[in-house]
Amino acid sequence: MKALILSGGTGTRLWPLTYTWAKQLLPIANKPILVHIIEKVVRAGIKDIGIIVGDTHKEIEAEVGNGSRWEVDIKYIHQSSPLGLAHAVKTAQPYIQDNDFLMILGDNLLEMELHTVMDFFYSSSSNACILLHKVSNPSEYGIAEIDGTSVKRLVEKPKQYMGDLAVIGVYVFDKAIFPAIEEIRPSFRGELEITDAIQRLIECGARVSYQLTSGWWKDTGSPQDMLEANRLVLSGITDTSEYAACNISTSAAGLPGEHSISLINSVINEPIAIAEGVKITDSVIGPYVSVGREVTVEKCVIENSIIMEGTRLENIKGTVSNSLIGKNVIIRGSLKDTGSPSFIIGDKGKIDM
Ligand code: TTP
Repeated sequence: MKALILSGGTGTRLWPLTYTWAKQLLPIANKPILVHIIEKVVRAGIKDIGIIVGDTHKEIEAEVGNGSRWEVDIKYIHQSSPLGLAHAVKTAQPYIQDNDFLMILGDNLLEMELHTVMDFFYSSSSNACILLHKVSNPSEYGIAEIDGTSVKRLVEKPKQYMGDLAVIGVYVFDKAIFPAIEEIRPSFRGELEITDAIQRLIECGARVSYQLTSGWWKDTGSPQDMLEANRLVLSGITDTSEYAACNISTSAAGLPGEHSISLINSVINEPIAIAEGVKITDSVIGPYVSVGREVTVEKCVIENSIIMEGTRLENIKGTVSNSLIGKNVIIRGSLKDTGSPSFIIGDKGKIDM
C-alpha cells in the first residue's frame, strides 16, 4: 500500500502565518504538523509516500526531504492549483498507479494509529474504507449514513439531522476511486470533492466501509484549532526526549550543554515543549506552551500558546494566552496593564506595546 498526504491548499484561515510558510509546516509541540503525520504513516508500515504540494512546495521539500531519515521513499506530486481533494487524488494517479493507497490530509492530526483502518479495508474486501469521527455539530461536516459495516450515503453539511458521524481526513482507496472521480463535477465552491467521488462509488455498487476514530481528532485549519491540537499533543507526550526539555518541572538555573536551554528565575508549568537555544528569564511558562528554537522570553507569563523560532518577548504585563506567534517576531511590553493579551502574528512582526 502507498500513502498520499495532501499538502497543497492555500491555508487562508491561518493568515497571516501562512503568508510566509506552508500551513502543514506550522509547529505543534515544536514539530511540523506534516512530520507528525509522516511519522504516523511510517508507523503504519508504509514505505512509499507521495506528498501533494502546491505553491509552498519548496519549503515542504526542504523540510521533509526524500524520506531517508525515516527509511521510506517520499515523492512530491505537484498540483497545479487547489481544485479540491478529489482533484489532488486525480493528479496523483500516475504515482499511485494500480496500488491501494491510504490518503490523509496534511493538516489533520489524530490520536489513533492508522493500521486499524488499513486492516479493515482488507479484511472487509472494501473498495474504500473511511474514518468517521463523532461530532457535536454535524451540520458543519460531511456526514455518513451507515448500515452495519457499510457506508450507505454521504451528505455534505446536512441541514436536517441524519447522524453525527463526520468524514475526516483519513481514507483508504483501491483503484476504483479514479473512474469515480472522472464522473463527478466541481461543487458550488468550484472544487472536485472527495465526498462526491465516494458517493459515486457507493452508487456504482462499490463496497465502502468505515471505522470509527478512537481518541481525539483535530483539523488544524484555524488558529484556535492549532492551539487545541497543541494542547492535545502536549498532554499526550510520553517520550519527552523528543520534545527537548519539556520534562523540566520546576524553576531552575541555567542548564548546561552545547544546545543549552537557559531558565533563570523562572517557573515551568507542564506540559510544555521547549526547543534548543531557548532563554527564559524571570518568567512563568505553561501549561500548554510550545517554545521554538532560539526564543527569548523575559518578564512574561505565558500559557496556552505556540511561539515559533527566533522570537523575542519582553516585559509583557498580564498573562499572554491563546497566542500563535510566528518566527522572528519581537513583542516589547510596557509597564501599562494590558489585561491578558492574545496575539496571532505572522513572521517578523514587531509590536511595541
Ligand atoms: P483545506 O483545509 O480544505 O483547504 P486549504 O488548505 O486551502 O485551507 P483554507 O480553507 O484555510 O484556505 O485542505 C485540507 C488539506 O488538503 C490541506 O492540507 C491542504 C490539502 N489540499 C490539497 O492538497 N489540495 C487541494 O486542492 C485542497 C483543497 C486541499
